[in-house]
Amino acid sequence: MNRPVMEGLRLNVPAYVHHARLVAWVAEVAALTEASEVYWCDGSQAEYDRLCAQLVKAGTFKKLNPELRPNSYLAWSDPSDVARVEDRTYICSQKKEDAGPTNNWMAPDEMRALLQTGENALFRGAMRGRTLYVVPFSMGPLGSPISHIGVELSDSPYVAVNMRIMTRMGKAALEVLGEDGDFVPCVHTVGAPLQPGQQDVAWPCNPTKYIVHYPETREIWSYGSGYGGNALLGKKCFALRIASTMGRDQGWLAEHMLILGVTSPEGRKHHVAAAFPSACGKTNFAMLIPPHGFEGWKVTTIGDDIAWIKPAADGKLYAINPEAGYFGVAPGTNYKTNPNCMDSLKRDVIFTNVALTDDGDVWWEGMTDEPPAHLTDWQGKDWTPALAKSTGAKAAHPNARFTVAATNNPVLDPEWDNPQGVAIDAFIFGGRRSTTVPLVSQARSWVEGVYMAATMGSETTAAAAGQQGVVRRDPFAMLPFMGYNMSEYFQHWLKLGALLEGQGAKLPGIFCVNWFRKGADGKFVWPGYGDNMRVLKWMLERVEGQASGVEHVFGVSPRYEDLTWDGLDFSREQFDAVIGIDKAAWLQEMQLHGELFQQLAYKLPAELTARKQQIEAQLAA
Ligand code: GTP
Ligand code: SPV
Ligand code: MN
Repeated sequence: MNRPVMEGLRLNVPAYVHHARLVAWVAEVAALTEASEVYWCDGSQAEYDRLCAQLVKAGTFKKLNPELRPNSYLAWSDPSDVARVEDRTYICSQKKEDAGPTNNWMAPDEMRALLQTGENALFRGAMRGRTLYVVPFSMGPLGSPISHIGVELSDSPYVAVNMRIMTRMGKAALEVLGEDGDFVPCVHTVGAPLQPGQQDVAWPCNPTKYIVHYPETREIWSYGSGYGGNALLGKKCFALRIASTMGRDQGWLAEHMLILGVTSPEGRKHHVAAAFPSACGKTNFAMLIPPHGFEGWKVTTIGDDIAWIKPAADGKLYAINPEAGYFGVAPGTNYKTNPNCMDSLKRDVIFTNVALTDDGDVWWEGMTDEPPAHLTDWQGKDWTPALAKSTGAKAAHPNARFTVAATNNPVLDPEWDNPQGVAIDAFIFGGRRSTTVPLVSQARSWVEGVYMAATMGSETTAAAAGQQGVVRRDPFAMLPFMGYNMSEYFQHWLKLGALLEGQGAKLPGIFCVNWFRKGADGKFVWPGYGDNMRVLKWMLERVEGQASGVEHVFGVSPRYEDLTWDGLDFSREQFDAVIGIDKAAWLQEMQLHGELFQQLAYKLPAELTARKQQIEAQLAA
């Protein structure tokens, strides 16, 4: 193979790379961004350790006390770069209607001029003074027919080490690619070029941000942020936004869903995929420990954030987790509510934006009942419980996260890496709603389930920049992650259901849950976490046709006596407070469904409008 050497810049292509198109593209991006060096990640432990040491030297990482938290690091981001930036995220399809009304859109040519081709294009010279890391990765098990390869070119070593945890990264992914395999090109820069001799900052980034997707050419260009979903491009950008368009074209689904296995005391195993919006409980649900009274039940994790789901010849839907690690919310995680998660975090973790203890370990709000007497907060400032009381200062940023390998999870499902995936028995959709939406209801048909998912609302969280606690519609928990027109996506779900039903298949059950109803005291009424097992058991019994419930206008919900209460003191009155349907609240809710349907009118499936009219007629009766 011809190995180009550019003027003043060696591409440093390793001997094991045989993909000419890849090398040419790396050369092109290196030239555009004027990176000072090119480094190809092999994905080895030695490389990881070396890059982490380099990040420590640069001040991006602090090495945590190896006695308390072996092989773990803490990064504090720039205070302006702490979450996904939805208003800076674009779907650049040729036609605006293909991005749909829920996405920001710009014509591809216009965006390319802004980022790549124009005289002052943002990527021009953006990596000056920095190393361009070539990060090849597989989303899904290496070599699986369901997996897809991506290559991220990034000037952030923080991204490179996080990608090693979150994906199957390095030489092995390139081997799958061979000489001319297809890959999704992902270009990322923090947008902070260095002048000769200029001292770098600990967390370089740029106030201007663009997170850009070209669905037709399957490309991702990300500018200005080093944080999470903005920068780890295999995750939301590829595995959801680009993959959803691949799924539309190829007849499969890319979903913002955890995947878990539930094994009963009799040894019967079911698989469930659940879509909750960002920071609404996926990681916790995926690692659930059944409560007292459920001895012999076991929940195991296949994935905690993303599912790729494909129909198979047997008429079932099989799901894989395209990721290899968890980028999870730290605040609120503790030994009482999620011991499996806490155990996953004992070693080999990258923490971002949590607080540092005086003995070199980490702390975040909700980790312990009693906070330490003194901490260094996520912005490097002194923090004490007294200060928090008087000013409300948080020790950890509310969207502080951990990056950890799936293999650290003590309840990792033995099938988590199975290239065939697992057969899904039930889909769950759930938002964060302090009022209105009941604890659980089951859809009586696929269409009813799609309606529930499509009209789901949720209170916004710290996972995205912007106002928090505001109810917004978040269809399928995919609002920030849809790569195409939302109404066409509803059609895609309806079509898939009809196709499988036409083949005589038994479709997965569809359920809607809400763990977050609050009482007059402003506190959550439902205990949540492990106790969600009580609802999960009912759902699986419903799928098996074993449990009873009552029909209401939206579906079927359990009566008090239909749930297993062993080991929990939860009264009928409390249950009524989480399961009740308030007619006035629902009349208001239907207005919001109406607003959503108005926004999505173009290509909105007629089945959904019909279902809405049906509900309204019943509510009026
Ligand atoms: P992303 O990674 O942003 O997609 O979030 P996620 O959906 O995985 O949410 P996660 O499980 O990390 O939970 C987010 C926050 O909700 C944490 O602070 C949890 O402690 C809290 N939480 C999770 N499950 C429950 C629950 O059942 N009840 C209550 N009250 N809080 C919960
Ligand atoms: C989410 O916001 O849903 C996340 C975190 O999972 S991020 O990877 O930053 O998108
Ligand atoms: Mn998520």
